[in-house]
Amino acid sequence: MPKELMAVYDKLARTYDENRGLFDMTAVFNDFFNVLDKKPGHLLDLGCGAGEPIPGLFISNGWRVTGVDFSKKMLKLAEKYQPEMKRIFSDIMDLEQENGTYDAVAAAYSLFHIEKENHMSLFANIFRWLKPGGKALFTYATREYTGADSFSGYIEFMSVSLFYSHTTPEALRRMLRDIGFDIISMDYRNIGGETFLWVTIGKPIGKKT
Ligand SMILES: C[S@@+](CC[C@H](N)C(=O)[O-])C[C@H]1O[C@@H](n2cnc3c(N)ncnc32)[C@H](O)[C@@H]1O
Repeated sequence: MPKELMAVYDKLARTYDENRGLFDMTAVFNDFFNVLDKKPGHLLDLGCGAGEPIPGLFISNGWRVTGVDFSKKMLKLAEKYQPEMKRIFSDIMDLEQENGTYDAVAAAYSLFHIEKENHMSLFANIFRWLKPGGKALFTYATREYTGADSFSGYIEFMSVSLFYSHTTPEALRRMLRDIGFDIISMDYRNIGGETFLWVTIGKPIGKKT
């Protein structure tokens, strides 16, 4: 699946870029920014795409940003829009980072392309990569988007068929708590006509790994 998705995003890069303005994420960004420490830190953006809008907004607020994506075409656009962002060409599931590196992790519209069977290890990695007190924000697909409580399959987006996967919000909540995260908010938001669950989680201050 991922290799095929990689090729699809390479093909989709220009269309996605041209249409990105349809998704206004100002409110999402402001809400996330408000739960972060006021001092600028280091953000890891998983599935950073063209480096817009999240990496750009963090950089303009004085943050360092490292973006990860497995589409070379998307990363090429990111180089143009956010030359200051450190770019890593990698599958999110293959990524290795030092424990306790990041003040924040963002994954806007990306993790729902990863098989739900891998979500536990992915969130456990995010937990390790965050500093104690660090926060993460991600988009999660649910019945509102796919029509099913638990789903793995293909849905059309911008005239191409894309793989999506998710479990239920209850199972997600249990998974995040079992890993050790505090759940700060889980909100359904309709942005650009698409409803997803936007989840903000925090690594408790006392936790090292
Ligand atoms: C819908 S776009 C979102 C891009 C950006 N976060 C935004 O908000 O515009 C999803 C991005 O995630 C990337 N992606 C999806 N699955 C990935 C994976 N397993 N590893 C790395 N990148 C992935 C795609 O290449 C694409 O650039």
